[in-house]
Amino acid sequence: MTSLRPAAFGPRLLATTALLGALALTPAVHAQTTNAPPPAAAIRTDAPTDKPWMDTSLSAEARADLILKDMTLAEKLQLTFGYFSTDQKWQVTPIKNYVYPTEGLPDSAGFVPGIPRLGIPNQWQTDAGVGVATQRSPNPRLRTALPSGINTAATWNPAVAEAGGAMIGNEAFLSGFNVQLAGGMDLLREARNGRNFEYGGEDPLLAGIITGHEIKGIQSQHVISTLKHFAFNDQETNRNQMDHQIEDKAGRESDLLGFQIAYETGNPGSVMCSYNRVNGFYACENDWLLNQVLKTDWGFKGYVMSDWGATHSTTQAANAGLDQQSGWAFDRSPYFAGALHEAVNNGYVSEARANDMAKRILWAMFEVGLFDHPVNGDQAITIDYAAHGKVTQTDAEEGMVLLKNTAGLLPLSKTAKSILIVGAHADVGVLSGGGSSQVYPIGGSPVPDEFAPNGFPGPKTWYPSSPMKGIQARTSATVTFLDGKDVKAAAAAAKKADVVLVFGEQWTGEGIDAPDLNLPTLGIPGGQDALISAVAKANKKTVVVLQTGGPVVMPWLSQVGAVVEAWYPGTNGGEAIARVLTGEVNPSGHLPATFPASLDQTPRPILEGDPKLDADSHPMSNYNIEGAAVGYKWFDKKGLKPLFPFGHGLSYTTFALSGLTASADGKGLKASFSVKNTGAVSGKEVAQVYVAGNGWEAPKRLGAFKKVEVAPGESQSVSVTVDPRLLATYDSASKTWNIAAGDYKVMLATSAADIAQTVTVHLDAQTLNVKGE
Ligand code: BGC
Repeated sequence: MTSLRPAAFGPRLLATTALLGALALTPAVHAQTTNAPPPAAAIRTDAPTDKPWMDTSLSAEARADLILKDMTLAEKLQLTFGYFSTDQKWQVTPIKNYVYPTEGLPDSAGFVPGIPRLGIPNQWQTDAGVGVATQRSPNPRLRTALPSGINTAATWNPAVAEAGGAMIGNEAFLSGFNVQLAGGMDLLREARNGRNFEYGGEDPLLAGIITGHEIKGIQSQHVISTLKHFAFNDQETNRNQMDHQIEDKAGRESDLLGFQIAYETGNPGSVMCSYNRVNGFYACENDWLLNQVLKTDWGFKGYVMSDWGATHSTTQAANAGLDQQSGWAFDRSPYFAGALHEAVNNGYVSEARANDMAKRILWAMFEVGLFDHPVNGDQAITIDYAAHGKVTQTDAEEGMVLLKNTAGLLPLSKTAKSILIVGAHADVGVLSGGGSSQVYPIGGSPVPDEFAPNGFPGPKTWYPSSPMKGIQARTSATVTFLDGKDVKAAAAAAKKADVVLVFGEQWTGEGIDAPDLNLPTLGIPGGQDALISAVAKANKKTVVVLQTGGPVVMPWLSQVGAVVEAWYPGTNGGEAIARVLTGEVNPSGHLPATFPASLDQTPRPILEGDPKLDADSHPMSNYNIEGAAVGYKWFDKKGLKPLFPFGHGLSYTTFALSGLTASADGKGLKASFSVKNTGAVSGKEVAQVYVAGNGWEAPKRLGAFKKVEVAPGESQSVSVTVDPRLLATYDSASKTWNIAAGDYKVMLATSAADIAQTVTVHLDAQTLNVKGE
């Protein structure tokens, strides 16, 4: 494991007189790097109140207009250029001659200097979607980690996502940050993607709603959240070079629809453009994505920031819609420092566009409250970690998916006298995903980094929340642990135990994709799959608990009694796992992604763009193969039977869904039904409504969903509405969503493959604008 943080390019010495000339225009030159302007001083907290833009009764737009009037061009452009804020001495491949800005927060993702004269606050940026991260450092900040994003999507519960967002927003604010690089929602087109754990699964509606609510929660704490990585950044292999080909219509009906729903739900201050190219152009200089789709069609008023190392030009990027270059010195050149100023002076970038760039950044700062609720340094000491522990635990408990449970093996029997736990360090902790999103655990990682001293996306980190201790605290059985390295010893011990819990793990991280969908071998003879198989052969009462970044295959599935997918369950994950296994919590997670039976079932059995196989400097992949038919839509269209379908998730109780009625409602459709708990314990069911029309990319789409809690014997009436875009097809020429007149099937289901009831509803023809209105 020798991967390094892949976006890092060493800064090159400036060769052109144009750039040297441009740098002379930048304010306050006290060299922080060899070739970029330094950050200005931090905001004064005693900013005078006579500034008209500080009138909080005005709209963010009006306030941004007022302050812009008082700004020089240099001040406006200063806002468009951000710095990496991490001490290079800790980095595996230090950026040469780079000294991080003194006003930035140590070992954080970024810093954009404010303008004290006008009371414009500094922007202190931190990763990411599961909590306050720290870049690689010997002194990381220790914070609460939510479970992985895919776990939160598996809750199918927007309220849980929003509470999680508010929790991490609060920790960010109290840590001195006012920009959170969260809101990851690239659709799961590629099951091997090393960053699937940061995202919301394969469906645009579910991923969009969950991510949007997370963003809403973060911004409720006066911390700007990004929505990222825009767009089609669905694999890590060759991520800086890949050129994903997708037609406008297919894109708008899939990944872009997910981003659009997340944007409408969460109103993010910023959108982060991604590393890859789309249809020939880098995402951060892609006029179609940034100017047309995001800003013109959807009406996004905030700013586009680049991913770290994703800016490739000055004029093209600025004119295509990039508003802020991030994380200098990750890029090859400080494109938005002096060179941008010169491009404006020369007319290559209009002054109106320069104003627009600054206005968008200021709009977001006013809208989210950065002026009115300034961060006040590091107050992490005041963080309520106990309360936040409950938030992350609830998320983990609601996202854990009971995939299989034969003969009532779970919850664990109270009469079991001996429980054997095997593998994945389940005696001491739970796994987290790696990369820039890494949140470091309070108490430290209980397992030494397997890959030390190698770098990014390590260190492989575990949270010190022990599933074994959690189980022991809830049973009178004798609980023993084996690390699983000795397969024979594990099988022999399994024979003697009443129940065996085998923990399987797949560590994934930013910058690398999983080589395949099997659990990694981890130096175990035959690998984890052989270990699980051997243990299951020895004892039928084997429960497998998985901690994976996304879908995996399970060659041992028919041999084991039960399987729980626990994803990366966060700070209190061990406790959450113990509570689900022992029945203290009834599992209610449902898969936000299809688990394929093999890679052969997926649109690209061989990943495209692997530089080891093809050194092409412009590697491409054709997303038009599946187009908008991502995930279950692809499986439906091809008639493939997955290992586990999208939406699947069992419970310790049973539910009956019935009484479905559907009718046209406004521009969309309304469906009503009831959910009855037919079992003996209280539980939560995820009712899913799929819709089917003619001429679509696939036989059906998820149209709506609702998670409901029902007591045993009771019923609940539920009504949901289906967004008209999910009943329509997109027409690129007219930029409209069109619902064809005709009969539509409406299906009530508990997964994409388990349909309880179907009704037909007639819809009249309708044309909606690009926003679906
Ligand atoms: C990642 C982003 C992250 C940024 C800052 C990049 O490598 O792709 O998601 O926000 O680094 O750390």
